Amino acid sequence: MEDAYAPYSQFKVGAAVLGATGRVYTGCNVENASYGLSICAERAAIFRAVSEGELAIRAVAISNSTGKAAPPCGACRQVIAEFAPSDDTVSVYVASEDGLESYTLDELLPRAFEL
Ligand code: THU
Repeated sequence: MEDAYAPYSQFKVGAAVLGATGRVYTGCNVENASYGLSICAERAAIFRAVSEGELAIRAVAISNSTGKAAPPCGACRQVIAEFAPSDDTVSVYVASEDGLESYTLDELLPRAFEL
């Protein structure tokens, strides 16, 4: 989260992805003057994981700079679903100043799109 590049929204986000191998991959949101090119922290972390050969995700943890819980956006939920292990759901932890909220991906994205 401290590394987030968010000069336009001031909304800094950090994400950590736990892969099936046990390795952890971090990411932050990276914004752009052409706003639509910005990427969320969750997807930055997942793309980093996949780029290093990690194709199954067990858990994602997310924090942001406001102190309020911000569960992942719809696009990130769909990208998490792409790399969910076939035999299990993904745990999603969302940090706030009140503590940690815990969800499953199935709760956050029921009936995900699949091909
Ligand atoms: N953002 C994330 O990093 N993750 C989310 O799940 C929602 C939004 C970022 C994108 C943008 O840089 C900023 O938060 C405000 O939308």
